[in-house]
Amino acid sequence: MRLDKFLSDTGKLSRKEASAAVKRGRVTVDGSAVRDPAKHIDPDTAAVTLDGECITFKRFTYILLEKPEGYISSTEGGDRTVMKLLPPEYSKKGLFPCGRLDRDTTGVLLITDDGEMAHMLLSPKHHVSKIYRFTLTVPAPADTEEKFRSGITIGDEECAPSEVVFDEDRKSGEITLTEGKFHQVKRMFNAVGTEVVTLRRVRFGPLNEDTTLSPGEWRELTEDEVQALADAAKIER
Ligand code: URA
Repeated sequence: MRLDKFLSDTGKLSRKEASAAVKRGRVTVDGSAVRDPAKHIDPDTAAVTLDGECITFKRFTYILLEKPEGYISSTEGGDRTVMKLLPPEYSKKGLFPCGRLDRDTTGVLLITDDGEMAHMLLSPKHHVSKIYRFTLTVPAPADTEEKFRSGITIGDEECAPSEVVFDEDRKSGEITLTEGKFHQVKRMFNAVGTEVVTLRRVRFGPLNEDTTLSPGEWRELTEDEVQALADAAKIER
């Protein structure tokens, strides 16, 4: 891999900045200053420093986006896709949203280029939980908890058992799902005679909502968060 690409893949520098840093002698490889941005290095074994600090290779990128209303969870579809909320240097990394939230759903959305991780986190077989906070038009009937716990049928699809906890008015609360059928939460509440007004994902596996992020803001995950995701997905990282 080219040295400037290695550096820009860290997310700290654009490709142009990486190239300039190398030319100015701010980068060493295996202990020697290298001034050629096109130099090929082995990302897994080369010891690279920038301004004296060790740089470890990040094979994948993991972003936590605070999804705002009005954006679709897709890589294609014009100006209102969640990908348009990220800066341009992320556009060539092959990132994609891990699962879908509806246009009007807000909250935790993982964006990554790690296909294996995404697959494992989304597969219903792995039971990774997703927690949504909802508000409803009218209170949910008294037997809703039981119906959701035993696996309600929506259309011709049977849902896996899920836990719902209502606030006192039974018009709001939290529901935990381990799968992601199309419009699942909305269709589950429709099936018991009420309707979702607002829906917000507050947790995706081990990833909690980050209340310091405003709608549309994002940050890269910490190493501990990536490890927690890998543990939840039962993959080695
Ligand atoms: N269930 C829904 O109905 N919509 C979402 O966006 C997520 C889960």
